[in-house]
Amino acid sequence: MSFLEQIKQRRTIYAIGKNVALTQDQLEAIIKDVVRNSPSAFNSQTSRVVTLYGESHTKFWNIVRETLRKLVPEGAFDATNAKIDSFAAGYGTVLFFEDQDKVKSLQEQFPLYAEHFPAWSEHSTGIAQFALWTALAERHIGASLQHYNPVIDHEVAKTFALPENWKLRAQLVFGSIEASAGEKTFMDNAERFKKFD
Ligand SMILES: Cc1cc2nc3c(=O)[nH]c(=O)nc-3n(C[C@H](O)[C@H](O)[C@H](O)COP(=O)(O)O)c2cc1C
Repeated sequence: MSFLEQIKQRRTIYAIGKNVALTQDQLEAIIKDVVRNSPSAFNSQTSRVVTLYGESHTKFWNIVRETLRKLVPEGAFDATNAKIDSFAAGYGTVLFFEDQDKVKSLQEQFPLYAEHFPAWSEHSTGIAQFALWTALAERHIGASLQHYNPVIDHEVAKTFALPENWKLRAQLVFGSIEASAGEKTFMDNAERFKKFD
């Protein structure tokens, strides 16, 4: 499959299950390859990644559930709970972090670009997220990108003993594809692209 075809194949898949043919070792190899080979400003490699499987994956989604139980109005919690169940039904969760100590040290090292490093760090994690999402899709693994940070950050860092300077940016929850993605609409190219010759 060409790279363009892979990009087109990547979609948000909400109906995910545990029927994944790849082993954890195979998945880890893909995750490491993708993140290591994703670009970062000045090759600063600010992205940090934690992958949760099995009980750790369940534990993570229970942290999200219990955190939201305190925040979501009671009447609305059933829908939230069902959504969290659908993520917990997946095979694993990739947590994307950005190392804030590294960002700060880059700002000190390169004062001329200091104000840009936080944004460049955000770009880097986005690139890595997209690349991994696409690489998983190539292996017929479905995923969706979630953002329960920052309300879960402290509990997640404590539970998995992660450095507090690792700032959680996104959660890519993945598993077997149990139902295909919904239809996607596209805005008019004319409103989006310009070309000058
Ligand atoms: C930066 C970014 C943030 C997103 N945040 C969420 C999110 O918090 N929850 C969610 O269910 N989907 C999230 N999505 C998925 C988008 O809704 C989805 O990519 C978009 O509707 C296009 O659909 P597709 O992924 O199937 O191409 C996010 C996507 C991006 C790129």
